[in-house]
Amino acid sequence: MHFRVVCLWLILIAIGTRDSIKAANASGGPGNGVMEEPEFVDKIKNITVAAGRSVQFSCSVKNLGTYKVAWMHYEQSAILTVHNHVITRNPRISITHDKHRTWNLHIRNVQEEDKGRYMCQINTVTAKTQYGYLHVVVPPNIDDSVSSSDVIVREGSNETLTCKATGFPEPSVKWKRDGNSKISLNKTLQVTEWEGEKLELTKISRLDMGAYLCIASNGVPPTVSKRIKVSVDFPPMLWIPHQLVGAPLAYSVTLECFTEAHPSSLNYWTREDGQMIHESRKYHAENIVGDPNYKTHMRLTINNIQNSDYGTYKCVAKNPRGETDGIIRLYISSPPTTSPKPTTTETPMRVKDFGFGDLNNSIYGNPSSLTIHLDKDAKYQSNLDDVGKSEQKSNSEDSENKQRSSDEMGNSVSAAAAAATENLLFAFWTFGLSLRALLR
Ligand SMILES: *[C@@H]1O[C@H](CO)[C@@H](O)[C@H](O)[C@H]1NC(C)=O
Ligand SMILES: *[C@@H]1O[C@H](CO)[C@@H](O)[C@H](O)[C@H]1NC(C)=O
Ligand SMILES: *[C@@H]1O[C@H](CO)[C@@H](O)[C@H](O)[C@H]1NC(C)=O
Ligand SMILES: *[C@@H]1O[C@H](CO)[C@@H](O)[C@H](O)[C@H]1NC(C)=O
Ligand SMILES: *[C@@H]1O[C@H](CO)[C@@H](O)[C@H](O)[C@H]1NC(C)=O
Repeated sequence: MHFRVVCLWLILIAIGTRDSIKAANASGGPGNGVMEEPEFVDKIKNITVAAGRSVQFSCSVKNLGTYKVAWMHYEQSAILTVHNHVITRNPRISITHDKHRTWNLHIRNVQEEDKGRYMCQINTVTAKTQYGYLHVVVPPNIDDSVSSSDVIVREGSNETLTCKATGFPEPSVKWKRDGNSKISLNKTLQVTEWEGEKLELTKISRLDMGAYLCIASNGVPPTVSKRIKVSVDFPPMLWIPHQLVGAPLAYSVTLECFTEAHPSSLNYWTREDGQMIHESRKYHAENIVGDPNYKTHMRLTINNIQNSDYGTYKCVAKNPRGETDGIIRLYISSPPTTSPKPTTTETPMRVKDFGFGDLNNSIYGNPSSLTIHLDKDAKYQSNLDDVGKSEQKSNSEDSENKQRSSDEMGNSVSAAAAAATENLLFAFWTFGLSLRALLR
């Protein structure tokens, strides 16, 4: 093939030479006497073009006479055109000329393979040659077949996202997260942007969940990007802000649990017997989806509390990765009034209330302070922090404290009340301490 091409060209040169000599003799008469050799008038312009467009190389000559102009592709050793004939079988190539002076090589729908050196040659005895370069640029393209698509991974595992892009010049790939949040590659390295075909995420956490964008660019518009959604699956987790909730009879109360799960968990409430709680006039349950949306705030409102409503409630969260539940105890508490109702017989109950209750779950009042309801409306507030400090004191100091507490209550406090206070403090230390340990 190559050989044939070369032979063809040699024949053409031979014909040309013969013709030109004839021509020289024929016109050798009047005017300039000596026939001038053909020569190039202008340089061939180099061209940079995006694939798919059409281009034209122009080769300008003078004194062509009966010589011929041919176009060749240097790297492909291919003769494209000779004079006004298209030699190549490439249908995208054509040739035009302007009075044999400017020879235009047209390339339609340029492909990447068309790039390279184009030669314009005149078939003089020693062929005269000129070059022009065609640079074909290709906008970036992300190859889906070898790039990552949406993935679901388990929390704690590793995952490598890949984005392969083609184009010319070779595109660069960078990664970003939706909403410009940081990409955490590992425990120590967090970046807003990462460059490279691969994005290695180690020990993926739920915080890494979301859309990742790979963006490929090479200076040739348009820049392209691909969105890869990373879902991180993990079993449900529960957090209960108030495990002990006090509410008076006939009041309403709302119990709360916070869950995290992916995929979304089925969330519901049960009583201690495991009986699922259904929506009714008594109960209203709602699941408020948080942000990020693997968080849910579960709320159960119990209306018009009756004696049978006190006891244990369970919030349950289940997803395909597992299940968990948490227990909330609803106990009776006195209404938030200052009326001097309580009698001594109720004291044990209130002792219990206090022990569990006001640590941090009063449905009214400042949750961080302890409100002690005593006979004669005496209210003693002590801050949890102070309680914390006194917890660390020695036994002797403890008794001092008790002493002081009793003193503060003054003379009007009956002996029964004092005894109750002792109980109360005892209840607080025992239950309170274990509760605090629990809540920590
Ligand atoms: C061309 O003309 C010259 C003289 O003018 C002559 O000597 C020569 O033989 C001719 N050549 C041809 C190929 O006719
Ligand atoms: C075309 O490019 C080549 C090589 O890159 C260079 O040598 C030549 O001078 C360029 N031609 C023009 C007309 O700029
Ligand atoms: C995840 O990658 C880290 C660091 O490259 C490696 O130490 C760990 O063993 C990998 N974990 C898994 C589950 O492949
Ligand atoms: C975190 O990732 C970067 C980039 O892959 C790596 O250079 C670095 O060593 C990694 N650090 C740890 C602690 O694995
Ligand atoms: C008590 O509840 C408040 C508000 O719900 C919370 O901010 C605080 O951390 C809780 N304290 C304890 C000891 O649980």
